[in-house]
Amino acid sequence: MSNKKIIAVVGATGAQGGGLARAILADKSGEFALRAITRDVASPAARALAAAGADVVAADASDAASVARAFSGAYGAYCVTFFWNTMSPEKEREEARNLATAAKQARLEYVVWSTLEDSRRWVKLDDPRMPTLMGNYKVPHFDVKGEADAFFKDSGVPTTCLLTSFYWDNLIHFGMGPKPGPDGRLVFALPMGQRKLPGIAAEDIGRCAYGLIRRGSEFAGRTVGIAGEHLTGAEMAAGLAQALGREVVHQDVPFDVYRGLGFPGADDLGNMFQFNHDFSADFCKARSVEFSRSLNPALQGFSGWATANAAKIPVT
Ligand SMILES: NC(=O)c1ccc[n+]([C@@H]2O[C@H](COP(=O)([O-])OP(=O)(O)OC[C@H]3O[C@@H](n4cnc5c(N)ncnc54)[C@H](OP(=O)(O)O)[C@@H]3O)[C@@H](O)[C@H]2O)c1
Repeated sequence: MSNKKIIAVVGATGAQGGGLARAILADKSGEFALRAITRDVASPAARALAAAGADVVAADASDAASVARAFSGAYGAYCVTFFWNTMSPEKEREEARNLATAAKQARLEYVVWSTLEDSRRWVKLDDPRMPTLMGNYKVPHFDVKGEADAFFKDSGVPTTCLLTSFYWDNLIHFGMGPKPGPDGRLVFALPMGQRKLPGIAAEDIGRCAYGLIRRGSEFAGRTVGIAGEHLTGAEMAAGLAQALGREVVHQDVPFDVYRGLGFPGADDLGNMFQFNHDFSADFCKARSVEFSRSLNPALQGFSGWATANAAKIPVT
């Protein structure tokens, strides 16, 4: 039997956990083994992980007992929650609480918790700069993650709170890519004015998490942030132009207009961009690119990512 230390990865079939799963599997001589957690061990993605050498186990973050079973016997875990499944902060809080409780029950020696800032530390609920959403939040999918840091701290499990960044993959999967404008040029809408937004290839989040895990408990008890690059909308448009071989112009969007776009979560994302914009200096400072590269020497910059993914970025 292998004496490798088991890392239980929540969301192993998805973006963040998938990057970590692939990093562990690729490091054949490394000291860690992958336990991939999925709700459906029979799905094609779960089967592919099993075929690549992962131990694949079933658990649902909304069921604490199932997670505790899945964590049992592991050395460590990567914990991520799933706001966009339900768009319910209460559900996400429950998932995070369940993961922290299960980590404690399983006596894990190390956890990486995928988190974001609680924007209410910067923008109080009565601050009129942006609307309060769902009664108690400014940026619901940020605020609950930041709030949930306390579950991991209080659990006593040595935990690194990992501040992630805007996925560049949103340009492929989330409808945020450039669109043709009336004059035929591509228009890249990003409501960040002239300020810089820390971004990252989703795959690199898991690779950075693997860097943390490999460095043992050096970062336990700390909050660290990662990004592939800090860029303005205009700089991203230039990178897209180079990758796509077409002219791309950046278009700023007023936050109120973005909040009113009408798709589910537009108000949350409008507040998110405003928060990232208004506190850009803090947001960038918390996410050092150099530190991220020290965890993950293969860290991608935006131009390289866009060139490698040009065929996948929808432009219609
Ligand atoms: N998009 C961005 O720019 C961005 C940036 C920073 C942070 N985030 C945050 O990232 C989080 C999502 O992470 P992701 O992008 O890695 O997700 P993802 O790609 O949607 O993957 C999530 C995976 O987790 C599994 N899963 C879903 N619900 C689950 C549950 N209740 N219990 C256990 N497993 C579950 C699913 O696999 P199975 O179907 O196999 O179970 C799925 O493949 C969100 O909370 C979001 O706020 C996003």
